[in-house]
Amino acid sequence: MSAIQPIKWDSISKILTLLDQTRLPLEEAYVQYSDPDEVAVAIRDLVVRGAPAIGCAAAYGVALAAIQYTGDDPAELAAWVRDAMGVLAQSRPTAVNLFWALERMGKLLDSLEGDQCGKVTIALEQEAVKIFEEDLASCKAMGDFGAALVPRNAKILTHCNAGALATAGYGTALGVIRSAYRDGKVSMVWVDETRPVLQGARLTAWEMVQDGIPAVLITDSMAGSVMASGEVDFVVVGSDRIAANGDVANKIGTYSVAVLARRHNIPFVVAAPVSTIDFSIGSGEDVPIEERDAEEVGGYGSERWAPEGIRIYNPAFDVTPAELVTAIVTERGVLTPPYPQAIAELSRLR
Ligand code: MRU
Repeated sequence: MSAIQPIKWDSISKILTLLDQTRLPLEEAYVQYSDPDEVAVAIRDLVVRGAPAIGCAAAYGVALAAIQYTGDDPAELAAWVRDAMGVLAQSRPTAVNLFWALERMGKLLDSLEGDQCGKVTIALEQEAVKIFEEDLASCKAMGDFGAALVPRNAKILTHCNAGALATAGYGTALGVIRSAYRDGKVSMVWVDETRPVLQGARLTAWEMVQDGIPAVLITDSMAGSVMASGEVDFVVVGSDRIAANGDVANKIGTYSVAVLARRHNIPFVVAAPVSTIDFSIGSGEDVPIEERDAEEVGGYGSERWAPEGIRIYNPAFDVTPAELVTAIVTERGVLTPPYPQAIAELSRLR
């Protein structure tokens, strides 16, 4: 289920095609890329977004840099590719999958030092394809692991978009929902609209309609009320970065949902691939939180409703403390508290 393809690579023409998520759901427009710097702009401007999808796009960006190089000096090619990686690394700060993908491509580049340019370019392209294919397989695995946690006839709430659009396809949180729905366990999905950029109202709602999964859109401020009425049995969200102690950074508003879920005794589950775990940081305090343009809060698109002169604060992510997280579903299995031990064990198995 889910034929949604946010990222496509043409191995003949060497062109990357992205489904422009800024224009969904009004328009299903695809944009083609052959320049890594333009891929960085696409990540920054949310044409492609969601942690795993950002990682995949960045990996293809690195491959494009090598393809773009026309000389035959391996050292010059490596420097050229490293420059492009530097630009890609500046695109967004919070999703660790971006840096994970760049590091993986960089390590491969290092290992090929001195090899002919053609060989290096082919290897980088193949690695980007592998990162994409592994992400797709991870989503399917997370879907199955997560679906086993979903109670029968569940009403599930999700925040932001951790769907096919946010990954190579299928999704993390929405992957769990898709698999649970396939298993006949989902009665309906509550979709938080997710201010300020409306990833819920525009993207998750679109995915649910595309796949015919029964869903109801609410504003973020309604989540507490629907939980209090006993209308939510399970919460599942994605993540941009998980610290070694299990603290979870995700779209702004996730923390409020987790607090509400705890208040109402509802399982709060995070679905994310191992590439979203930042083993190098001890807690959520070390996650760099992106602050985005004030215009996103002052209005939407070209419409502005806040008065000129008002000060605006627009952090794009928040941190949910590990103590509020019931389980973390990865492609390697389900992690449960105590997370420091579970994550350390996962790190040893990497
Ligand atoms: O700003 P965005 O749209 O990139 O934020 C996306 C999220 O917060 C997702 O929940 C997260 O990246 C997980 S996507 C599988």
